[in-house]
Parts: sequence; structure tokens; C-alpha cells
Amino acid sequence: VSAGLLGVTEAVDDPGDPRVADFIGLRDHELRRRRESAGGDLDGIFVAEGDLVLERALRAGYRPRAVLVDARRSQPLPPALPAGCPVYAAGPEVVHRITGYHLHRGILGTFERRPVPPVADVIAGRRRVVVGENLVNPTNLGVIARSAVALGWEALVLDRTSCDPLYRRAARVAMGEVYALPHAWADDFPAGLSPLVAAGFTLVALTPAVDAPALDELGLGPDDRVALVLGSEGPGLRPDTLAAVDVRARIPMAGAVDSLNVGAAAAIACYELTRTRRP
Ligand SMILES: C[S@@+](CC[C@H](N)C(=O)[O-])C[C@H]1O[C@@H](n2cnc3c(N)ncnc32)[C@H](O)[C@@H]1O
Repeated sequence: VSAGLLGVTEAVDDPGDPRVADFIGLRDHELRRRRESAGGDLDGIFVAEGDLVLERALRAGYRPRAVLVDARRSQPLPPALPAGCPVYAAGPEVVHRITGYHLHRGILGTFERRPVPPVADVIAGRRRVVVGENLVNPTNLGVIARSAVALGWEALVLDRTSCDPLYRRAARVAMGEVYALPHAWADDFPAGLSPLVAAGFTLVALTPAVDAPALDELGLGPDDRVALVLGSEGPGLRPDTLAAVDVRARIPMAGAVDSLNVGAAAAIACYELTRTRRP
């Protein structure tokens, strides 16, 4: 254990040590999915990777369960880490055998999830909400969350076929900003959009369809409550979801390109719809 960590950490030499059970097999998709989702053998935890991401989880008020560091690490632990949180240090080989990957002097933390509020609660008092249908790629979801927070969007509503925004990879791509974005799980669309309709949101479906109006032609006013509805990476928005929105909007494509990555499209739309709403 490096001098900087002496006295703060507990050494772990055995990859099967029950104290580091939260971290076992992080590369194993199925094991991790079961562990990180409610109802699994380690109910309701998520994993944060890297100092910045960990700090943002702490800043968002999530309660840490345990931290695992590479014993060669020399930098101090995140200052916001509460004194009672166990910190385990293991050599690179042991870390690899526990987690399945190399930590490179890095840090991993496990946190307790909080109950996810109903859609109506998450959108109450908000003006700009991002909505996702069947967003299955955690990298894309991370890009969307980071862009949304950076551009002033206030909440994320996902259908249940979308991936988990607190999943390690999504949080890492979002640089931990995902923890600052309240999210809720909606029922299948279009029925799952009804809380947004009831709250008076204008539902804007983002679609590359050539007959949709261009995004900068929507003419939304500064007082409109806007829900930006994004579609799945492959097929895009389902026809019945498109039929249920107030307006469709397209980012015009040049040449023969048919569409953008959903994360890129979301960033452009979040910017454009914020820009047109400035007083
Ligand atoms: C890869 S695209 C799906 C492409 C699919 N063929 C379609 O027609 O929607 C994934 C999502 O990104 C958004 N998107 C991508 N390119 C877009 C564009 N040029 N204009 C508006 N939205 C776009 C839409 O929300 C879309 O559902």
C-alpha cells in the first residue's frame, strides 16, 4: 500500500474476500446486471469509476458503501468521502481478479441507489425534460445526460426498455453528471407519455424523417414546457410514439447521411431549443 493511503485503507490480498463482494466480476455483464438492479443478490447498488465520477456521486448525495483502490495509488482519496466508508486497497493483480479489469492506480466506489420517483414528481416544476424510448446503449445515454445537464435541461424520463442511467459506463461517459439529472421510469410509450401531456408539456419528437419540420422552425415560446423525445439507436421512434407527440422536428442532414448518433442529435437539439428560449 502506498504511503498516501497507509492508515486509511484495509489491505485485501484475496480476490474472494467477502468485504469486496460488491466489486466482483464487474466485466461480467449478467452478474453485474443482476447485482446492480433491484431484486438482485446485492439489491440496488451502482458502481462509480474514477475520482471525478465518485466525487459527483457524493456531491449528488448518494451514500457510498465501499471504495476499492489500486494499492499503488498515491493521490489522496476524494475529500467528500465520509469517514465511516470502508476503503480497501489491493495490488493490481488482485484488483484484476476481483473486478475483471485494470484500475491503473484508480478508484472504484459502490453506492446505494435511491428510490426512483414517479414521472409526475420528476417533471414537476420543470420546463425542459429529455425523454428516451428504447435507448439501449449506455455510452449514448451518458452523452445525452452530460449534454442535457450542461445545456440546462432538468430531468430525464426513460421507458423501461432503455438502459440504466446509473450504470457504470453511462456515468463514466457523462463524467458523473448523470447523478445531477433526476430521472424516472415511464410505462411503455405512448401511454407512458401521459404524465407529460397532463403537465402541459409540448412533446417534440426528434426524428430524421425528411417531411418533419426543421428544428429551428418550431417557434416555441420561452414559457413553453418542452419534452424532447429521442428514439432508439437502430429503428428510431416507434410509429405510435410519433403519432402521439405534438410536433416532430428534424436536424437537416447534408448529402446522403440519413441520421446522426442519438447522443449527437440530443446535444444539438438541447442547445437549439435552449437558445430559442432565451429571453
Ligand atoms: C440513429 S437515429 C435512428 C434512425 C432511424 N432510422 C430513424 O429514422 O429514426 C436515433 C435517434 O436519434 C435522433 N436523430 C438522429 N438523427 C436525427 C436527425 N437528423 N434529426 C432529428 N433527430 C435525429 C432521433 O431521435 C432518432 O430516433
